[in-house]
Amino acid sequence: PRIVSAAFVASSSDPGKLPAPALAEVAFAGRSNVGKSSLLNTMMQRKNLARTSRTPGCTRQINLFEVAWTDGLHVHLVDLPGYGYAKRSRTEKSSWGPMLEGYLSTRGVLRAVTILVDVRRGPEEDDLELVDFLHALETPPRILLAATKIDKLSRAQQKPALEKVKRQFKGPIIGFSSVTGDGRDALWQRLRHAIAI
Ligand code: GTP
Ligand code: MG
Repeated sequence: PRIVSAAFVASSSDPGKLPAPALAEVAFAGRSNVGKSSLLNTMMQRKNLARTSRTPGCTRQINLFEVAWTDGLHVHLVDLPGYGYAKRSRTEKSSWGPMLEGYLSTRGVLRAVTILVDVRRGPEEDDLELVDFLHALETPPRILLAATKIDKLSRAQQKPALEKVKRQFKGPIIGFSSVTGDGRDALWQRLRHAIAI
């Protein structure tokens, strides 16, 4: 099957104001600048549907996109604001946690959360805290892990780097590049599986 359409649905900084849950959702979380919005564009095969920037802190709201497949699968992909960005104002920072945690803990249709880490940095404190937070939810979503920007490493460097991230996370990891499209098919396969069950 292939994608027939991908479209922006809604965006809000208040999880309670998002459209009522109608479709299965998959969210993408990670530190600012790790490449969440870029990965979403690659997944949806659309250049600029999700806004990206070289400067961290680009995505400031919860953004919903709807993707439809030829086999009838419909899913919401959710682009979340990044965490761990030092330069936000204090008021912005204090609303960040509640926004993310509010969304992750109240959205009954949330089937999976893909946590993205930069392949060169691996998981940091915030990422591991997010894993713990998700595990502690009443109905925990499936957690998928992706290591981004693998194009920044040579082919020979990629394998050991991915092995290292895998050990740190204690779980399978998908290497991904928004530049080459590496990992796109593997990630969709996992996502489709997570949505289907
Ligand atoms: P926030 O919205 O601030 O949380 O950031 P984000 O995680 O959405 O990152 P974004 O997709 O905006 O990308 C940040 C920067 O990294 C941009 O300059 C992208 O072009 C670059 N980038 C993202 N993915 C890749 C990748 O796979 N390879 C390379 N080389 N650069 C990437
Ligand atoms: Mg973003």
